[in-house]
Amino acid sequence: MSYVLLTGGAGYIGSHTALALLRAGEQVISFDNYSNSSPESLKRVEQLTGKSIIKIEGDVLDVEALAAVFAQYPVKAVVHFAGLKAVGESTQKPLWYYETNVGGTIKLCQVMAKFGVKNLVFSSSATVYGDAQNSPLPETTPTVAMNPYGQSKLMTEWVLQDLQHSDNSWNIAVLRYFNPVGADESGRIGEDPNGIPNNLMPFITQVAVGKRAELQIFGNDYPTVDGTGVRDYIHVTDLAAGHVAALQHLFTDPGFDSFNLGSGEGLSVLDIVTRFAAVNQVEVPYQFAARRPGDVARYFADPSKAKTLLNWQTEKTLDDIVRDSWNWQKNNPNGYN
Ligand code: NAD
Ligand code: UFG
Repeated sequence: MSYVLLTGGAGYIGSHTALALLRAGEQVISFDNYSNSSPESLKRVEQLTGKSIIKIEGDVLDVEALAAVFAQYPVKAVVHFAGLKAVGESTQKPLWYYETNVGGTIKLCQVMAKFGVKNLVFSSSATVYGDAQNSPLPETTPTVAMNPYGQSKLMTEWVLQDLQHSDNSWNIAVLRYFNPVGADESGRIGEDPNGIPNNLMPFITQVAVGKRAELQIFGNDYPTVDGTGVRDYIHVTDLAAGHVAALQHLFTDPGFDSFNLGSGEGLSVLDIVTRFAAVNQVEVPYQFAARRPGDVARYFADPSKAKTLLNWQTEKTLDDIVRDSWNWQKNNPNGYN
């Protein structure tokens, strides 16, 4: 028996990937310090699948705790989600972001090398494309970071590429996520942000459930279809399936590769808000506000490389996204608490 180790497995994307992996017949270990999650998400994944997850509380900066996992369990591959992801916070606390996101990955790889486990899937972000103007964006788009969070993802990509070049027994898939949204269709697991949400979808669901008075739409004067920002929203269940496909790819087509995980479709903020209200028959009061500093007008993925090499593409529709986001929020108005 061998395991797939998920660092940050209790988080939003990690818990949905744990669900997908268990359903694909894999054995899963989660290693998480619960700084932005709780073990409740993993308990619910166990309930949904009838299978158990080995749950270890630990920090990726703690090499002894990491080594203890590899010493105890036969791990065949690691999916590395653990990290910090708030762009604004990263500008206030850059050292913490670099230490956790870059330093944590280096420590993880050192421990993996020590135990001869050299198969890794890494959570990167479309933020590495900066303010690229020419969507759809293929993986060959020049990369540039706009803030310490983005820089930490880009630096980590470079570290991983250099590592694989130095030792071709490493197999590494870098996954550049576009905008993850939605929740498992059961409504049992979903995104549970701390405090005021930074991202659009959790803000909309909290307005709809009455926790916040209204949504502020940041900018209605962008050069886009309706003046609001355009993004590539990807259902988290599709994203989780992308990880299952990427893990398989490590074994069938080894080496280093980067993949966009997105739908290939750009949707505006107003597209999302109006469809959310219509499908779910709920009110989402909103007001136009100033542009949010650092926001790009419009970007979306060219996902054709993942389709060709991973045999993966998104399946869920915008209606699935808004329905499942609302299903999670209304059944869990206070998240996992
Ligand atoms: P999340 O915060 O829900 O999950 C991250 C998990 O890592 C949490 O469970 C947290 O407790 C854990 N963690 C944080 N620091 C840790 C540490 N030092 N040691 C061990 N565990 C630690 O975030 P998510 O949305 O699931 O994101 C997962 C990954 O995907 C992150 O690396 C993030 O940067 C990346 N990503 C997310 C998005 C997005 O919009 N959600 C977009 C692009 C990339
Ligand atoms: N928006 C609003 N009001 C809000 C929140 C967001 O109008 O209250 C708008 C934004 O201006 C943007 C769109 O909704 O046009 C999406 O914003 P999000 O904050 O949900 O997502 P971003 O595209 O800004 O960023 C996300 C992640 C980053 C990641 C990036 C690329 O938050 O971590 O996608 O993957 F780097």
